[in-house]
Amino acid sequence: MTLKAIIFDLDGVITDTAHLHFLAWRSVARQIGITIDEAFNESLKGISRMDSLQRILQHGGKSAAYSDKECLKLAGEKNDLYVRSLAGLTPDSLLPGIREVLRDIRAAQVRIGLASVSLNAPTILDALGIKGAFDFCADASRILCSKPDPEIFLAACQGLNVRPDEAIGVEDAAAGVEAINAAGMMSVGIGNDLHHAGLILPSTRELTWPCLSDFWASRHHPDSNR
Ligand code: BG6
Ligand code: MG
Repeated sequence: MTLKAIIFDLDGVITDTAHLHFLAWRSVARQIGITIDEAFNESLKGISRMDSLQRILQHGGKSAAYSDKECLKLAGEKNDLYVRSLAGLTPDSLLPGIREVLRDIRAAQVRIGLASVSLNAPTILDALGIKGAFDFCADASRILCSKPDPEIFLAACQGLNVRPDEAIGVEDAAAGVEAINAAGMMSVGIGNDLHHAGLILPSTRELTWPCLSDFWASRHHPDSNR
């Protein structure tokens, strides 16, 4: 079977905005007396804005402390802080190796998609100057369930006109890897503790076209029984 598409997560894969999400949430959490650290932040990666807030409130033992209206206000404050921090993004903010891998995937005539649940994804792609690198970006505003649900990856496959089993997904979050696997795609995890990924790479530096095509071949070669 031929590899037809590679579908990327955005935050923490294309650029280091995962850290900016953390800084903004930490500041809002602190205001309401909740402390979060980088380890806890791992559980927020790939999770939508409102679901992230619920997890933070639960972590601080304040699940029932805020009305829906107050929750919307807190999420809005987080987003304002986050959007302000995006002002520093430029084409130099691509993570190492990303520009090259996008170029090489295109040269290999494999389609490129984006599967981010962030409503800020279009702004970020603009700031990075790479909107044109994607054949299709799934629209987070049309998604009902955030990762680990496969919905956003399935929407990306549909938009690219490929079947999930013809595609590889790339993620930095456990919830994202789970979403790729649940979609029936092959998964690449960037970073630590992504044990469910089909291929784990320490950083985006190792995410090269030869590495991706070898991974695909290892599962689809006629002699392979994996
Ligand atoms: C994901 C991030 O890509 O987008 C999450 O991993 C974030 O941390 C989610 O909460 C939603 O992002 P936004 O920009 O719509 O608040
Ligand atoms: Mg991510």
